[in-house]
Amino acid sequence: SMSGGGCPFNGDGGVRALLGRTNKDWWPDALPLEILLVNGSPDPLDEDFDYAEAFNALDYHALKKDLTALMTDSKPWWPADYGHYGPFFIRMAWHAAGTYRTGDGRGGANSGQQRFAPLNSWPDNGNLDKARRLLWPVKQKYGKNISWADLFILAGNVAIESMGGPVLGFGGGRRDVFEAERDIYWGGEDLWVNEGVATRIRPEEEVDLENPLAAIQMGLIYVNPEGPGGDPDPLGSARDIKVTFERMAMNHEETVALTAGGHTFGKCHGAGDPSLLDVAPEASDITLQGLGWASTYESGFGPHTITSGLEGAWTNTPTEWTENYFRLLLDYEYELVTSPAGAKQWQPIDQKEEDMAPDAHDPSKKVPTMMTTADMALKMDPEFRAISEKFRNDHEALRDAFARAWFKLTHRDMGPKCRYLGPEVPEEDMIWQDPVPAGTMPSDADVSAFKSKILDAGFSIGELVRTAWYSASTFRKSDHRGGANGARIRLEPQKGWAANEPALLDRILARIDELRGNLSMADAIVLAGTAAVEKAAKDAGFDVEVPFTGGRGDATQEWTDVDSFAPLEPFADAFRNYLRTKSNVKTEELMLDRASLLGLSTPEMTVLLGGLRVLGANFEDRPHGVFTDRKGQLTNDFFVNLLDMDTVWEVVDGSGDEEFIGYDRGGRQEKWKATRADLIFGSNSQLRATAEVYAERGHEEKFVRDFVKVWTKVMNADRCDLTYAKYHK
Ligand code: HEM
Repeated sequence: SMSGGGCPFNGDGGVRALLGRTNKDWWPDALPLEILLVNGSPDPLDEDFDYAEAFNALDYHALKKDLTALMTDSKPWWPADYGHYGPFFIRMAWHAAGTYRTGDGRGGANSGQQRFAPLNSWPDNGNLDKARRLLWPVKQKYGKNISWADLFILAGNVAIESMGGPVLGFGGGRRDVFEAERDIYWGGEDLWVNEGVATRIRPEEEVDLENPLAAIQMGLIYVNPEGPGGDPDPLGSARDIKVTFERMAMNHEETVALTAGGHTFGKCHGAGDPSLLDVAPEASDITLQGLGWASTYESGFGPHTITSGLEGAWTNTPTEWTENYFRLLLDYEYELVTSPAGAKQWQPIDQKEEDMAPDAHDPSKKVPTMMTTADMALKMDPEFRAISEKFRNDHEALRDAFARAWFKLTHRDMGPKCRYLGPEVPEEDMIWQDPVPAGTMPSDADVSAFKSKILDAGFSIGELVRTAWYSASTFRKSDHRGGANGARIRLEPQKGWAANEPALLDRILARIDELRGNLSMADAIVLAGTAAVEKAAKDAGFDVEVPFTGGRGDATQEWTDVDSFAPLEPFADAFRNYLRTKSNVKTEELMLDRASLLGLSTPEMTVLLGGLRVLGANFEDRPHGVFTDRKGQLTNDFFVNLLDMDTVWEVVDGSGDEEFIGYDRGGRQEKWKATRADLIFGSNSQLRATAEVYAERGHEEKFVRDFVKVWTKVMNADRCDLTYAKYHK
């Protein structure tokens, strides 16, 4: 399918750790700043610092003017090719955004990760450390009013505009983080692309690229420019490009437009022997102050720059938006040549003098243009070729397609449009923003009328709770997609997902629809679950009010991109005790991953899971982990019974270590059934310590309070329509 749907953990490589290889593996000697985490957050900004408010106070047009001036303000320590830094900044912005992948919504430009390992040191990000340093004076001047994350993308936009290229707009609001993100799987292999490891796609074995990865090898943004595994095979490159760009939500037309539009500008750098480059930034010498790839080839910069190892410009006009990319790609025949750095690349045969490029540092000289093997894919692959011909004949179509694809590339990971800030946000709604029409705030009377009706409608507490859970729990904080707003659970594809129990869902949603009165479906689904939680607490003797905030809207099928929702389908959800098939990642690690995407802490994950079990919120009402004889009451029985020393556990034969039975110690009477997602709370020392708190006498009410708090957090996790309303005045 278009977005690489399917289980995000379906790799062929046998069992793997959730995080694969991490910074600790790559740089075991790095300064272990994480020992200070226990003393406080690594974020030096004030605790109440509100980036959205700061961004709104930015003098946006002054910043853009300064960025425009920076484009042609060449610095002697890293001179601009053709006197213009524009192409360099476009590559920086593209590589910032280009780590996004649809599988788990992680990666992307929205937290400024390019500043940290491993991205700051990926071979594909070579010399982008200099691009970021060129921006520092501007960052310093505008300070807290512009994040690095926003600045990377805005600099890319200004670069395109300053060379006459098309830009659709800019949404600000990407808040910086101050350490490497810890939750992201970048791959499991031991070697990086520059160390000669084989590509992740092995066609002879017909093995698909491991999900959710969207790059063909560790250290690449997408594909190897020289072709698969360095083999200059344009058709193989086309295959790799299709797979990786689809993982990033780009269809083939968007892929061609982006790559061609991007390579209308700038050049490749491969002036000399790449073995003369020193190490990447993360391990570079302390005197270099965080810059990497120090080069001893001649001056090391300007005409002597070595980055990818390929050398030359794609067009004869590398700092202007023109139609020359497709003209040169399609009108010339190409031959395979070798760059001064030894890289394989393609050169036009019998190139006319006027079609040659200026030398980047000596305008009196002309040099042949070039194409990478990846560019040749756009010429040689029949499907790409047809799109290329179309754009060759209709430059306006390319202009429009490039502008739209660039906007999507650089904003897709920000989530719904209510999170965009600033004066250049396009009016138009785009389907990939998952638009939800504005809702209306229901009256207190409507809310309480619906609550009593739905509790009397003949459904169990568990059925109401899990319908709300199925609706809200698709949320992922990585790209802010999913969640209860829009009630997309009643639309394709969500209403048919096995994990959502389609038959039960149909019945409940029909009844909710009959009873909801003035409430939106989205509100009514959440309220049904919330009313059930409140009743379950009362029945357990706790008179608590479970907060409900209405105002959600109902999305339409027309504005729901079915393909793009596929990666949100739960193949494992520990909170509903659901595992479709055994994965190559441990079930308890999948639980951790889901909790991480929901934005939960360890205690929040613990109390939420324990509470959902006793409410009867398991998929198909299965008995696993329901350690209580009063299902439907909000008690701490899950924790009390899990930690009871009178129970001994045995694995169920043939369950693949996924299912367990708890027996009375001594006797052989079966007491409970459980999965790994239950027993881990007794077996892992840290989770056990947390579970103990919730099992302790005196903490019964705390358990209820904490459960209600995290329930409310998940139900409202996607409500940027509320939290951002004040920024849109
Ligand atoms: C530069 C490969 C897609 C924009 C480069 C370079 C390579 C490359 C090897 C030379 C780096 C250097 O040596 O300095 C690829 C491949 C792509 C791809 C394999 C995907 C198939 C894109 C996209 C964009 C883009 C989607 C933007 C929309 C640029 C720009 C430069 C560049 C502007 C020039 C940078 C400069 O002049 O310093 N690319 N690229 N590329 N790329 Fe791409």
